[in-house]
Amino acid sequence: MDKLQTDEFRLMPFNSPAGAELYLYARDLMADKARRGDTAGVLNMILEPAKDGSEISETEFRNFFCLLVAAGNDTTRYSIAAGIQALCHQPELLAQMQAGGAVWETAADEIIRWATPAIYFRRTATRDVEMHDKLIRAGDKLLYWFISANRDDSYFDDAFRVGLMRNPNRHLAFGQFGPHVGLGMWLARLEVTVLFQELAKRISHIEASGPQKFLRSNFVGGIKELPVRVTPR
Ligand code: HEM
Repeated sequence: MDKLQTDEFRLMPFNSPAGAELYLYARDLMADKARRGDTAGVLNMILEPAKDGSEISETEFRNFFCLLVAAGNDTTRYSIAAGIQALCHQPELLAQMQAGGAVWETAADEIIRWATPAIYFRRTATRDVEMHDKLIRAGDKLLYWFISANRDDSYFDDAFRVGLMRNPNRHLAFGQFGPHVGLGMWLARLEVTVLFQELAKRISHIEASGPQKFLRSNFVGGIKELPVRVTPR
């Protein structure tokens, strides 16, 4: 990660040599599965030829593997951390979770809005667009700040508070509105819901017992450290 020249890794996510090492792990794993005749699992499905007989290239598989590992890890982990932080700051939330029912239809999305672990993405404009009196020209490189959109108080009431029953909740934590989308959003919602359902069953109180520390990154946003004290139920 400390290399200044990363051209060699330019086809890896984030130009990262760590991605190359991660892929070696995937390759060994797949080779081992093949030796054992084990054909189950998501990775085998991805390697299956499509209906038209086309197959994923090695580079595509390598990038997809690294993308899945990165995309599915930090995001859900930091969403859960943000949910814990919200429980510490807004004590009414735990009781709402414990009341159960409809809250579970909306809670995960609100926790993920609050977390917004992917802070921004970059895109290239394909045509001229005027927005808020600014002209974006075709070819311009743009950042869209999901974190900012998700705190936009011209759209969200009380944007800086967590409302587990917030509905509608058209947050942008998963990107969306284009050919790309947070592909893991259904899994992520499920993970966050199940974790807080199980936690709410087991505790009667939670509070912060020390200061929170944020991850040092302008791309992935999350709480790295937050000591808490819990009272079991
Ligand atoms: C709270 C959790 C998550 C958040 C906030 C999140 C957020 C995002 C965002 C913002 C994008 C980019 C969308 C765009 O380009 O417009 C994305 C893409 C993606 N995510 Fe997630 N994600 C989460 C969980 C997951 C999980 C659990 C997985 C898989 C196990 C996953 C897999 C992917 C993949 C494969 C893409 C690329 C899809 C594409 O480019 O078409 N994500 N995610």
